[in-house]
Amino acid sequence: MKNVMLEDIEEIFFSQEQIDEITSRIAEEISNDYKDKNLTLICVLKGSVMFMSDLMKKITIPCMIDFLAAESYGSSTKSSGEVKITKDISDDIRNRDVVIIEDILDSGRTLKKLTEFLNMKDPSSISICTLLDKPSRRAVDIEPRYVGSEVQDQFVVGYGLDYAQQYRNLPFIGILKKEAAERIANNNKV
Ligand code: IMP
Ligand code: MG
Repeated sequence: MKNVMLEDIEEIFFSQEQIDEITSRIAEEISNDYKDKNLTLICVLKGSVMFMSDLMKKITIPCMIDFLAAESYGSSTKSSGEVKITKDISDDIRNRDVVIIEDILDSGRTLKKLTEFLNMKDPSSISICTLLDKPSRRAVDIEPRYVGSEVQDQFVVGYGLDYAQQYRNLPFIGILKKEAAERIANNNKV
């Protein structure tokens, strides 16, 4: 059956092949950097779910995984500025070397809050791995250790990333057509 969501996409930004290259490169870097450490990957739900699963398959050292959920966006494309943690991790990260796996680093508020929150749990170290980075949008001081690719100040969807909770299941990353964004925004009004 044809993918009806494709009609809503203006342009593909990162193809499945490009994403595959990015995840391979980062997995190799993490595997090298953490080979003598106690690695725990923490996936930030929901947007990082595809990135996490592709990345962990390619990591060649033992690791633990965990999940955290945070909300900073409603249905729009603008950050509310407020970050709420809606799901805590379930394992102990004391003496563990944590890598937070994030889909996109925008203002940085989400990761700042998550890093502070996880730091209170006394891990050995915390670093950030983000698939996409929008450095021009940064509002707080936060530095990712691993970046898949930098992007301009444009709103992207797919490969976990959503617009009003939709398009997460596209296997690539693209830009939405204006009319599709408007249609969804209007549907959400009722
Ligand atoms: P920050 O707290 O402003 O850094 O926002 C980070 C969160 O905003 C990400 O985890 C995404 O959920 C969301 N976000 C930021 N930019 C985009 C985008 O271009 N597409 C989809 N979600 C985005
Ligand atoms: Mg989101």
